[in-house]
Amino acid sequence: MNSCILGIETSCDETSAAVISNGTVLSSIVSSQAVHEQFGGVVPELASRAHIRLIIPIVEQALQKAGVQKENINGVAVTAGPGLVGALLVGLNFGKGLAQALEIPLVGINHVEGHIYGNFLANPGIPFPHLTLVVSGGHTQLVLMSGHFSYKVIGRSRDDAVGEAFDKGAKMLGLGYPGGPLIDQDAQEGNANFHHFPRAYLKGSNFDFSYSGLKTALMIFLQTKDREYITTQMKNICASYQQAAVEVLVRKTVTAARQYNANSVGVVGGVAANSLLRSWLHMEMESIGIPFYLPPLIYCTDNAAMIACAGEERIKRGMASKLDINAYPSWQLDDKQ
Ligand code: KG4
Ligand code: ZN
Repeated sequence: MNSCILGIETSCDETSAAVISNGTVLSSIVSSQAVHEQFGGVVPELASRAHIRLIIPIVEQALQKAGVQKENINGVAVTAGPGLVGALLVGLNFGKGLAQALEIPLVGINHVEGHIYGNFLANPGIPFPHLTLVVSGGHTQLVLMSGHFSYKVIGRSRDDAVGEAFDKGAKMLGLGYPGGPLIDQDAQEGNANFHHFPRAYLKGSNFDFSYSGLKTALMIFLQTKDREYITTQMKNICASYQQAAVEVLVRKTVTAARQYNANSVGVVGGVAANSLLRSWLHMEMESIGIPFYLPPLIYCTDNAAMIACAGEERIKRGMASKLDINAYPSWQLDDKQ
């Protein structure tokens, strides 16, 4: 069957649309909303308003770049949660209208599932059981998949997500937003042993995470330092902070991969773009002989191609949603929707 799926992603501050056909990306347009930079974080109402303005032009650009008329689309996949409710509603309602007008299936996708399928988009034959580390601005989870769409969340953050620790840390350091890429960049020329920030392993053989302590430790460290010292030592502070954040992710992923006899390991989400996390996990997986899969950088941060990929796989299996589907701001991957 000639499949042609439009993906839409508006869960946070990226307005994105993509067209895929049988696992091949025909177009992927991502518009990042610059309006939040001055606030050092996403302002929900401004995000919704920007999505409202951008959704039609971005979808039109995606169709045009793919060389596809909207009449040729035979399915719409749209993020239905988790995320900012006002932002989700823009994409979801647009997707519903389009699916109804064109009389084609609509499928509501969990954003975390989208991130995971961004890896399948780049590496279609990933073997199961597959262990994925999901690391983004809103999520830090270890997810075990026994097959397509079969998820067991074996660990998750009890407080902040690791991406939030990067963003808030960068804000405290006076860097810009989003902070992850900026810390990553500065850390490359810094000494990771400059300062020992705490690693939260949590007691017992537990795969949960905690990142609020790391953020507080940075705040306390900075309280006793003046601006000049912070500026001169910026690269060393970034390298030490990043090392603490990434080390816990790597150690827990390696332990979980062994304990659950994973046949493959992946890392997805915005923080999967982190250069230390990518190289460290790659090295660890190579040494224990478990195949390791990463999406290319463009499919790590939020994009609609990953949503379209999950949607295409679901539609292929007859797993479309009803048109009365709601937005689910706190939707967990292992919840029944
Ligand atoms: O997946 P994503 O685009 O949005 C959410 O679903 O949250 O992830 C965004 C997060 C931000 O916290 C950003 O700082 C982080 O990913 N990020 C990075 C890097 N690139 C993006 N964190 C560390 N190192 C990076 N290179
Ligand atoms: Zn995301």
